[in-house]
Amino acid sequence: MRIGIVQSSPVFGAIERNIADGLDLMSSQSADVWVLPELFASGYQFKGAEEARALAEPIPAGPTSQALIEYASRTKSYIVAGLPELDEDAVYNASVLVGPEGYIARYRKVHLFYEEKLNFSPGNLPFGVVDIGIAKIGMMICFDHLFPESARSLALQGADIICHPANLVLPDLAQRTMAIRALENGVFTATANRIGTEHRGTEALTYTGQSQIIAPDGDVLCRLSKDSIGVHVLEIDVMRARKKSITKHNDKFGDRRPGLYRL
Ligand code: ACM
Repeated sequence: MRIGIVQSSPVFGAIERNIADGLDLMSSQSADVWVLPELFASGYQFKGAEEARALAEPIPAGPTSQALIEYASRTKSYIVAGLPELDEDAVYNASVLVGPEGYIARYRKVHLFYEEKLNFSPGNLPFGVVDIGIAKIGMMICFDHLFPESARSLALQGADIICHPANLVLPDLAQRTMAIRALENGVFTATANRIGTEHRGTEALTYTGQSQIIAPDGDVLCRLSKDSIGVHVLEIDVMRARKKSITKHNDKFGDRRPGLYRL
């Protein structure tokens, strides 16, 4: 199967334009599964909770989910993308998985980063995995990378590919941790980060690009640049993520000793 990552440069609040830019990048190539950045249509640096609420959308009824569903059904592809979700009174930093058949699943960011804690409710749904036929897909968002439990719980549920929308600002951190998450769990990871700078309050945030796809042995299969938009599509063999053996006596999951782990 073919997996693609999109590295875009959203303009804060310009939802229609950012959706069009993301889909435009995707339309240059074909893929079975696409990953777009965190909050790819809204932008990231909210001035407060009210602004986040004003740009948040119900999933899947809102315009971002609907545009993605339309693209997925037209191109027979699956898409994971980040967006602010409005659910009754709560606003979540969420991601959605859609496919040719429409809306499939959502994820709400569990580990909020920095001022996201002022703007969003923390995710209240367990990490989950969806079998889309060609692969088993797990979702996590950006800062979740620093908490090994995120990737581990997806991998233990059988994820082949961890789709990881991101808006990374700490230099190179997630690029390194995600290679370890892929290696220790024996899964593919696909991180779609954004580029550009937002400067909407007292500080500027510069996003680090370098979106990447990592193989189950930790190899970096592709990494985009720090500062230009782009896409990369790769053919991967998802069966590689189902082989957890290390030696004839060792297995990444079979050798775990949960009875001795104190959580
Ligand atoms: C992040 O979680 N957006 C760094």
